[in-house]
Amino acid sequence: MANVTVIGAQWGDEGKGKLVDWLSNRADVVVRFQGGHNAGHTLVVGNQVFKLSLLPSGVVQGKLSIIGNGVVVDPWHLLKEIETIAAQGVAITPANLVLADNACLILPIHRDLDQAREAAAQNKIGTTGRGIGPAYEDKVGRRAIRVADLADRAALEAKIDRLLAHHAPLRKGLGLPDFDGAALLAELEGLAPKVLAYAQPAWRLLDAEVKAGRRVLFEGAQGALLDVDHGTYPYVTSSNTVAGQAAAGSGLGPKGPGYVLGIVKAYTTRVGEGPFPTELTDEVGQHLGTVGREFGTVTGRSRRCGWFDAALVRQSVALNGIAGVALTKLDVLDGLPKLKICTGYTLAGQPIDYLPAGLKAQGQLQPVYEELEGWAETTQGARSWRDLPANAVKYVRRIEELIGAPVALLSTSPQRDDTILMRDPFQD
Ligand code: IMP
Repeated sequence: MANVTVIGAQWGDEGKGKLVDWLSNRADVVVRFQGGHNAGHTLVVGNQVFKLSLLPSGVVQGKLSIIGNGVVVDPWHLLKEIETIAAQGVAITPANLVLADNACLILPIHRDLDQAREAAAQNKIGTTGRGIGPAYEDKVGRRAIRVADLADRAALEAKIDRLLAHHAPLRKGLGLPDFDGAALLAELEGLAPKVLAYAQPAWRLLDAEVKAGRRVLFEGAQGALLDVDHGTYPYVTSSNTVAGQAAAGSGLGPKGPGYVLGIVKAYTTRVGEGPFPTELTDEVGQHLGTVGREFGTVTGRSRRCGWFDAALVRQSVALNGIAGVALTKLDVLDGLPKLKICTGYTLAGQPIDYLPAGLKAQGQLQPVYEELEGWAETTQGARSWRDLPANAVKYVRRIEELIGAPVALLSTSPQRDDTILMRDPFQD
């Protein structure tokens, strides 16, 4: 199969950036298809660390990188990130970075609204505060400003007026000052030429690339349990994060996504609020957070940690059509004498093997655990299956059985080369 789609199979932060970077060696084109600069992808290449939020991870390898129409784009952030990565020695030009001209923009009014709502809310979502939700609201409300609008001053002016008419009462209700539309217009006009330099009909380019036999790697952001339909709603992000979105968010048909590789952490984490059945608030949870360096790339917040939840990932395998998984951060479990895997739950005393849709039910789930022996040896940096302790192999095999998908790749450290390949997603 020529194309591969990489998605997070849990609540995000599974280590997608490293795997996408590694796989982009084998790809010709790398495409982001949802989310925005709420994502945080850390790539470690030798002694250099690249922190990407909006740019597809393929830019670091010099691959053609596309920001698809399903992404919401903060143009100020885009230009800043290009500058930062370029300052690290990576050439970014319109020849290797393409922005879909029909992508919607995130504006300062969206960030204001996101942050003011979170500050005022009794039940906070715990968003990244980057304006993602309000920008998607304006997109489906058919009043968003899109990249192509930057080329048309009259359209831009009319759209800003329309947008401000919608936002004015919302801002008033939250105690925010009136928004200066003229200043926004001037700023957007100022940055328009820089942004438009990267803009083109991305679907057309992608179509041509695929017809020419090029391999495409789709790079998901966040994780399946943060999907606006399938996740732990309303404690989710505002886009579809599942693999099917790779088609709609890039303009390629439903066969485009190809082999779906789910990235799965060897334990579970989540940042922000919402249900988390296997969460550990004891010293084991703290141990996972410390050893796994579980702090958000974007916000610096501590991530909540817990045991591996196989029921959750099994659901994710179904929702995404996952063909194989890449298991990450196994080394964080090194040295723990006993490990637990959640195989299902009980709800009001009855067994249940999936995450129900109702928030109340999600909050009442009691995990059912299976206990496995840990291992004392280190798995960090292992580069072959034979380097792994027998109990680590058992742990991985049990996960495969419980989630109903094979482990295609095993990542044993943040370094690009510390990766064990069991089967090549591009060949499968
Ligand atoms: P938003 O995407 O900023 O609206 O945040 C909504 C929820 O998604 C919050 O719980 C965030 O913590 C979470 N979230 C957003 N982006 C990421 C990510 O890249 N990794 C993990 N969680 C994320």
